Amino acid sequence: MEASARATVLIVDDTVDNLSLIGSFLKDLYQIKAANNGAAALRIALSASPPDLILLDIMMPGMDGYEVCRRLKADPRSRDIPVIFLTARSSVDDEKFGLDLGAVDYIGKPISPPVVLARVKNHLSLKASADSLRASLDTARAAHAQLEKAQKHLIQTEKMAALGQLVIGVAHEINTPVGNALMGATYLAELLDTLHGQFLDGALRRSELAEFLEGAREVCGLLTTNIVRTTNLIQSFKQVAADRSGSVRRRFDLKDYIGDALLGIESYLDEAECRLTVSCPAGLVLDSHPGPLAQVLLILVRNAVTHAYAPGQAGRLSLDVSLHEDDTVELRFADGGKGIAPDHLPKLFDPFFTTRRGNDSTGLGLYIAFNLVTQVLQGTIAVDSVQGSGATFTLRFPRVLPDGDGGTAPSTISRPDPSGEPPPSPTPPQAQLVW
Ligand SMILES: Nc1ncnc2c1ncn2[C@@H]1O[C@H](COP(=O)(O)OP(=O)(O)O)[C@@H](O)[C@H]1O
Ligand SMILES: [Mg+2]
Repeated sequence: MEASARATVLIVDDTVDNLSLIGSFLKDLYQIKAANNGAAALRIALSASPPDLILLDIMMPGMDGYEVCRRLKADPRSRDIPVIFLTARSSVDDEKFGLDLGAVDYIGKPISPPVVLARVKNHLSLKASADSLRASLDTARAAHAQLEKAQKHLIQTEKMAALGQLVIGVAHEINTPVGNALMGATYLAELLDTLHGQFLDGALRRSELAEFLEGAREVCGLLTTNIVRTTNLIQSFKQVAADRSGSVRRRFDLKDYIGDALLGIESYLDEAECRLTVSCPAGLVLDSHPGPLAQVLLILVRNAVTHAYAPGQAGRLSLDVSLHEDDTVELRFADGGKGIAPDHLPKLFDPFFTTRRGNDSTGLGLYIAFNLVTQVLQGTIAVDSVQGSGATFTLRFPRVLPDGDGGTAPSTISRPDPSGEPPPSPTPPQAQLVW
């Protein structure tokens, strides 16, 4: 109903006198339609210009008011039109029956014009409010659907952009060591050709052979360095996808598992003069992927050793585990090192972000950790740092992964599989990093 247009009231009564009586005092305020039987009432109610309210007599020959009301309420086109019964029958039971059918009100005959006017006015204004609420709801729903669509599109676009960046990054990173290796191999071939020529001429001098050997050793060193770097990169790239098919989901005691895992990196930490203190509640049993979890911890430990402290500087690392009320596990890994610059923080989990380019760093460690935590462990990872006072990485993930999430969980607690997942890169000393 438009605010400016007059509302339409349909009066249904088999007695023509009643129709004209009611019509006479409503017509100044409303547009009136009239029907003297149920079928005609339904026709008008379901027409292209339905009424805004229906005053409905109950006792009519043929289809009675109750039946008309039942049909109106059963049809989505007419079910929102308020119906007020007008009848001489006014026992409490009758009223209840009528209201149960979906009528909004009940007016007993003989009618009093001011009462009818007041009720009609009230119910029309209620209907107008309900209509406008419904319209707002529809608008909100449409806006929400539109937003969801836009969000999906954005996520897709972002994914594609991230993938593109990753491919460019991979190509760029691999290009340098492979290019260097190719240069080395070409140079080695030249050295060999020269040596071969000297040998065939029978003019190979001892000093020339020594020169060749020196050059060849240098080139072999260069080749090895670059091929190792390429292998490391490929190893890291393979983990970027955070493929959970390779890892086993099972039940394990977190404290025991961390203890065993730390044994594997004890000497690595000793060498780096770093001490790691672990605090974890006993008997905390997880049903998740231990391999990827260990891999993430390893990445964090290696980063603390590599980035937080200068070589030879004694480091203090801590790992604190707690269980939250919502059955999620929180792991806080902190170092007291140099910390992270504020403008680096937002980029820390991006692929290829590193502050040590050219060394052994690929800038993929935290990106891999992020993917493992969010995709395999189905949790979150965040970083906090005050420059100069260290960094804290906080992982939070469900203690028990939701059902149907890869792998089967044996019902007994087993010790960690010592072969675990391969570490993200073979440096530093891989033999000591068997998690
Ligand atoms: N504990 C830490 N303390 C200081 N800086 C860190 C720490 N951990 C990570 N970083 C910073 O985050 C960057 C990205 O780490 P990562 O993704 O593992 O790549 P990479 O170790 O190959 O550089 C590092 O280059 C370093 O600048
Ligand atoms: Mg790293």
